[in-house]
Amino acid sequence: MTKPRILVTRAVFPDVVERLEQHFEVEANPEDAAYTKAELIAKLQDKDGVFTTPSTNMSEDVIHACPRLKAICNMAVGFNNIDLAAATRAGIMVTNTPDVLNETTADFAWALLLATARRVTESEHYLRAGKWQKWRYDTLLGMDIHGATLGILGMGRIGQAIARRSMGFDMRVIYHNRSRLDEQREARANNARYVSKEELLRTADHLVLALPYSPDVHHTIGADELALMKPSATLINIARGGIVDDAALIAALRANRLAAAGLDVFENEPAFDPGFLDLSNVVLTPHIASASEPTRRAMADCAAANLIAALTGAAPPNILNP
Ligand code: DGY
Repeated sequence: MTKPRILVTRAVFPDVVERLEQHFEVEANPEDAAYTKAELIAKLQDKDGVFTTPSTNMSEDVIHACPRLKAICNMAVGFNNIDLAAATRAGIMVTNTPDVLNETTADFAWALLLATARRVTESEHYLRAGKWQKWRYDTLLGMDIHGATLGILGMGRIGQAIARRSMGFDMRVIYHNRSRLDEQREARANNARYVSKEELLRTADHLVLALPYSPDVHHTIGADELALMKPSATLINIARGGIVDDAALIAALRANRLAAAGLDVFENEPAFDPGFLDLSNVVLTPHIASASEPTRRAMADCAAANLIAALTGAAPPNILNP
């Protein structure tokens, strides 16, 4: 019997590719080449399934141009790189990797929050540049985290994991979400209090964005929202670029209308607005919130399990369009 054919669009752990090879004829991409849209379409012509990462754009026109495709299995919980509606119309299963990255992503939100509020990377640059001559009362003063108000926009599983970690810092937690959590979940999330988006923006000392991207939340944080925030506040984005209007954020940081930002994601990543590079009050990381060894492995295993199920007649565990 001939095996189904799949494309793995970007480099992944070699042993995961080997596992896929037990079930499929695999075209892998160990060189991690970035395919153009035309190359991607050409490679998918004879494929039944595709293992994607956030770097692969499965847009409507790609989906339409690949009539043989039956499954798109994304190695990420976010799936804004895939036109889910177009895939559903075309009868293509789409899966993601929820849950396996919640705790690791929450850890990293805290890494960014601490680094941003306490100016960790800026301090290191200062030291490496030989600027440290003496102890001074006002060297690199930052903002406190303990006792402060943590705001979370998007209180799904990652947002709740971020909130739980705030207990050790004796923080108040406020959040805004499409819907309010039940009382038990709020209690576990350090007694998080549901507030309007406006109150969240006005009150948070540190605001973490943890909501999924969809076109409805494009530029949810723009000039008007930034203007509501305290000038002493920090903004942390571990969610997706595009939720923040990067140009408006740069303007606010440049004018010190916001103390600092910690950003793991950008509007057009891996490209990003070079305006960020001129700012000392921003901590920039290359979309690595889920990048611990065990978690990236768990994500790859989860995506592979979804693809194997989808193309062998079983129900994929994490189907987005059942
Ligand atoms: C996700 O899973 O959506 C992450 O952003 C990928 O690192």
